[in-house]
Amino acid sequence: MAATTGLRTAQGAAHAAIKSVGAYRASRVVPNSEVVEAIDSSDEWIQQRSGIRERRWATEEETVQVMAVGAARQAVERAGLEPGDIGCVIVATVSHHLSTPSLATAVAHELGTDHAPAFDISAACAGFCHGVALASDLVRGGSAGHVLVIGVEKLSEITDPTDRGTAFIFADGAGAVVVGPSETPGIGPVVWGSDGEQYDLIRTREDWHQALTSEEPRVPHLVMQGNAVFRWASFQMAKTGLEAVERAGITVDDLDCFVPHQANNRITDTMARAMKLPADVRIARDIVDQGNTSAASVPLALDRMVAEGDARSGDLALLIAFGAGLSYAAQVVTIP
Ligand SMILES: CC(C)(COP(=O)(O)OP(=O)(O)OC[C@H]1O[C@@H](n2cnc3c(N)ncnc32)[C@H](O)[C@@H]1OP(=O)(O)O)[C@@H](O)C(=O)NCCC(=O)NCCS
Repeated sequence: MAATTGLRTAQGAAHAAIKSVGAYRASRVVPNSEVVEAIDSSDEWIQQRSGIRERRWATEEETVQVMAVGAARQAVERAGLEPGDIGCVIVATVSHHLSTPSLATAVAHELGTDHAPAFDISAACAGFCHGVALASDLVRGGSAGHVLVIGVEKLSEITDPTDRGTAFIFADGAGAVVVGPSETPGIGPVVWGSDGEQYDLIRTREDWHQALTSEEPRVPHLVMQGNAVFRWASFQMAKTGLEAVERAGITVDDLDCFVPHQANNRITDTMARAMKLPADVRIARDIVDQGNTSAASVPLALDRMVAEGDARSGDLALLIAFGAGLSYAAQVVTIP
């Protein structure tokens, strides 16, 4: 085989960074009082076990596409770009109704990109951090200039309102970032993986075929073995977070912000303690009035921290997301 083939390879940017963040919060505010009766629970129990006071659920008109485009437009605008500047659209979601085509192609079109390549990724709550890792590599590898990464979910449609283990947790919304070229490193190495041995811990109860051919046809609902998820997330994910910090060449003392998947405030607290985060690291608490929005939760939490001044330009933030699969991904990023 000849040593030189004459093929050229793509040349990307020296570094990649998050350029902007955008958000779309579903419009219906749903307090705990509205969900407790169907699950024989109480506002006090829910707040104590999860930190959630209220959540956002989408109206019928607020489809995953509407919410994804809303968050994306804001991110593109805040990056000072036009839709035509976007070189790739990645959507992380598990609640798009069609197995094919992807939601991303519809979003890329509605936004007005110039036929940008677009695809969905299915990595559940970890999907957004997977997307950021891919985007960083696309920009540095020369396959795209600016990449739009969107996390969007309408989990209220696939949650059983009578299931005590999930009905109070899941919610709806979208968050987006633009990843683009940078003169300095803005996205650290991703630490990611999967544990398919625990495939059944969070899943839809049945597959589409089983759901539609059952005696009472219905949407397949999410079910979760909460205790096992809690233990895995709190301790395994702390190790993953520390590895991401180490691979970024920093220590926890250098961190300004911690933006974990907004699964449950108790998981966040346990992780922060296990990682020995210094007391002055600002921690995202978006879950309190947003609920758990799976793939959308990290960018929504990031957007709030930026909006409220808890994350400032140049700050170092540890992102970590985890969920069904089980799948997980973490990286340290600089705040745009
Ligand atoms: C869902 C979760 C809050 C449930 O808490 P838990 O302590 O594990 O609940 P358990 O199923 O062990 O039940 C403990 C007690 O609470 C009760 N309980 C369970 N769900 C309840 C509810 N929704 N409201 C009131 N009481 C409830 C049980 O009946 C049980 O009562 P008992 O001790 O008298 O028998 C918890 O497992 C959790 O946070 N898991 C992580 C889930 C998560 O964040 N997932 C997202 C990952 S993407």
